[in-house]
Amino acid sequence: MSFISWTDDLSVHIPSVDAQHKNLVGIINNLYDSMQVGKANGVMRKILGDLADYTVTHFSYEERLFKQYAYPDAATHQSSHASLVTQIRELQKQLEGGAPISIKTFSFLKKWLTEHIMKDDQKYSQFLRAKGIQ
Ligand SMILES: [Fe+2]
Ligand SMILES: [Fe+2]
Repeated sequence: MSFISWTDDLSVHIPSVDAQHKNLVGIINNLYDSMQVGKANGVMRKILGDLADYTVTHFSYEERLFKQYAYPDAATHQSSHASLVTQIRELQKQLEGGAPISIKTFSFLKKWLTEHIMKDDQKYSQFLRAKGIQ
């Protein structure tokens, strides 16, 4: 079973965004599976790097839409993104310093992604769908 299962609660009902969120879930699950089978720190670092890169790509996608359609809550949402990026960079630094990824880290990553989707991303769903974003 996957560490994070995709459920309808996570859907913002915008196919392009859901696809990106599913990718993020997939990368975290991949990281978790790698930990389970005891992959080397270097492998874990590479996957965490992929997660950080894809996070930035995804956040930029959302922020472009906010700008394009003048989403009223853009500033708050962007500061939430900035804080999430800082947290993932912090985790990268820890791993680079040789610290293993603990179960606590995985709980953090699960919360980090799912809470942002369910609390912040869900807020723009109605607004962007009304603009015809798919
Ligand atoms: Fe977001
Ligand atoms: Fe998102």
